[in-house]
Amino acid sequence: MTNSPATAPADPVAKHGRDSIIRIRDLTVRYHVARTGSWLTAIEGIDLDVYEGEFLTVLGPSGCGKTTMLNCVAGLVKPTGGEIVADGRKVTGPGPDRAVVFQDYALLPWRTVEDNVRFGLEMQPRLRQGAAEKIEEAIALVGLTGFEKSYPRELSGGMQQRVGLARALVADPKILLMDEPLGAVDALTREVMRNELERIIEATGKTVVFITHSIDEAIQLGDRIVVFKSHPGAIREVVDVDLPRPRAGNTKGDGYADLRRRLWEALEGEARAAARGDGE
Ligand SMILES: Nc1ncnc2c1ncn2[C@@H]1O[C@H](COP(=O)(O)OP(=O)(O)OP(=O)(O)O)[C@@H](O)[C@H]1O
Ligand SMILES: [Mg+2]
Repeated sequence: MTNSPATAPADPVAKHGRDSIIRIRDLTVRYHVARTGSWLTAIEGIDLDVYEGEFLTVLGPSGCGKTTMLNCVAGLVKPTGGEIVADGRKVTGPGPDRAVVFQDYALLPWRTVEDNVRFGLEMQPRLRQGAAEKIEEAIALVGLTGFEKSYPRELSGGMQQRVGLARALVADPKILLMDEPLGAVDALTREVMRNELERIIEATGKTVVFITHSIDEAIQLGDRIVVFKSHPGAIREVVDVDLPRPRAGNTKGDGYADLRRRLWEALEGEARAAARGDGE
């Protein structure tokens, strides 16, 4: 099925040598704004394929619709138009093939670490067998062994985010959807977590869609980077990142600097346009 030499070169699968596991076609979302009684087009006409095992990072100015697109893939927001197919099925709601990691961790404060991670299995009866081992493995993978009985309030922000990641990983979803997961932790923790994430994702082979405001994060983690534009939110460009891994601490080369500059220019232009409200 994949890597077929007979596949036409124009086929995106041929270019990436893999099947797309998420297929977004002509995705449009309009929100009804109660305050004004009008409709706001958050995203319009988005076409995107995410390939199996790929780490896709998403950059773009605030309010350009990144979260909206991710929530559509998660099945949490219903599109106004277009469709999404994930792991071979049309998305009509949340499913066990997709897990979400939120910026604010979204942990249950009255539950211990292991019970928060257990939550990732509770919606899926077929996964309850062997739950204790799955929870132990997920906690070990994110480096929290020894903190199973702690409560979220007893953990640092970075540790809480690890719990959020373990909760997403425990059900072994094929797809991880991450909305600025490192946005709420301090700069040092963020760097440590970013390197950890690179390791964990490589170890698990997940397909990841990862929203960030950090160009460096997008480059370090991404196999490809999707740059959004605003008004309405849409894809401006998709950039391949052909830099060797692991990329942690390896930001000195020309390739890195060129890519960084190119992304910076694109984002700066978009941020200016967003501030002017172009295209409204
Ligand atoms: N539930 C909602 N109702 C009405 N408007 C919404 C809703 N959610 C988002 N919007 C609007 O849709 C647009 C896109 O929002 P979205 O949260 O997807 O952007 P974003 O790119 O994730 O921004 P940020 O980088 O700040 O997180 C914004 O103008 C926002 O105000
Ligand atoms: Mg957002």
